[in-house]
Amino acid sequence: MDHFELIDGVMHAEGVSLETIAEQVGTPVYVYSTATIERHAQVFREALAATGDPLIAFAVKANPNRAVLATLAKQGYGADVVSAGELMRARAAGIPADRIVFSGVGKTADEMRLALEEGIFQFNVESEPEAEMLSAVAVEMGKIAPIAFRINPDVIAGTHAKISTGGKENKFGVAYDRAVQAYALAAALPGLRVQGIAVHIGSQLTNLDPLRAAFEKIGALMAELRAAGHVLATADLGGGLGVPYDPAEPLPPSPAAYGQMVAKATKGWNVRLMFEPGRLIVANAGVLLSRVIRIKQGAANDFVIVDAAMNDLMRPSLYDAWHDIRAVRPRGDTMSSTVVGPVCETGDTFATNRVTPDFEADDLMVFATAGAYGATMASTYNSRALTPEVLVKGDKWSVVRARQPLETLIAGDNVPDWL
Ligand code: LLP
Repeated sequence: MDHFELIDGVMHAEGVSLETIAEQVGTPVYVYSTATIERHAQVFREALAATGDPLIAFAVKANPNRAVLATLAKQGYGADVVSAGELMRARAAGIPADRIVFSGVGKTADEMRLALEEGIFQFNVESEPEAEMLSAVAVEMGKIAPIAFRINPDVIAGTHAKISTGGKENKFGVAYDRAVQAYALAAALPGLRVQGIAVHIGSQLTNLDPLRAAFEKIGALMAELRAAGHVLATADLGGGLGVPYDPAEPLPPSPAAYGQMVAKATKGWNVRLMFEPGRLIVANAGVLLSRVIRIKQGAANDFVIVDAAMNDLMRPSLYDAWHDIRAVRPRGDTMSSTVVGPVCETGDTFATNRVTPDFEADDLMVFATAGAYGATMASTYNSRALTPEVLVKGDKWSVVRARQPLETLIAGDNVPDWL
């Protein structure tokens, strides 16, 4: 459920008309609903209530805007970070260090140092060489790094290949069969304290079976590791639960169904569970608001050309992702068209031969379910400024990232004086 609805024939984000935002901020612009973020945060927490008091660490990569992170901090959420930048954003948004977990295959010594200084809750270590580097950095600083190994359980996630992470051919995690060896190594390293285990098999999962299979494998491994003398106090089950994008597709499993599956799969584990949801919390809490520049008749199809492009929302061109297209002031008619942006690539296509509301030049359009992996993946390709972001709460709203002036974009380059 979200809070983007028609009021008197005009789409609003909670109590604010998208026409007002478009007039005052310009387009394209991302618009987020606080009520939706808060609701999803609460629904996910309630779904996991049967598993004790888990640490829910929002996957910052899904939407790193500081205002969004601050909203989640107020909900008691922690953060799953994968870079120094994400760690600093999470801290700047008020997320306590003891609710932060650091994931990622390529942590550098500098990033490890920063995280150790901050005193984060856990490093999810993805290889033995990483464990060795982290131990060395910690020893140098006179600290002990609390770690879990992220295990690659070799299950097929059944999602898009580019966002599957739990197969043995993927770069993520320690191979299942090397896990015992990796834990033995870590236990012998002076700068580490082994505290748990972690797994994350992919994103936008629309079936619970691969998750269940992964968790069962992790449960079996935990027994083996404990028998070898390791103390496991945490189990981080990652993120990955899918959200509805295309209304014609079956609904993904609900957070409640996920929670029940988790409670069953982890029964008797005797750990503090951790979760790293991203998309589930913020996807439906955001739209990309755009204006139609013009309609163009092509030889094979008609094109609706909008002022948002693949640099603002990469998902359709990168993963052939579907984002529902809605009119801000629908007239009730429909049309079939191909919706494209101004960028000079054929991949700059949001929808091909799709039946949408009827659009004319100057109409406002939204791409729905764009709150996750939207603004965060934007680029300045074609020298287009980074997309601004707006956060709405009731009838209040603020620009939470201003439109980047083109002058700033250009001033970022330096032309050497020897040229
Ligand atoms: N934990 C780890 C270690 C991750 O790598 C990810 C996502 C998450 C948690 C959060 O997963 P979620 O709950 O959002 O599914 N750009 C792609 C998605 C990439 C996901 C990367 N990792 C997209 O737009 O679909």
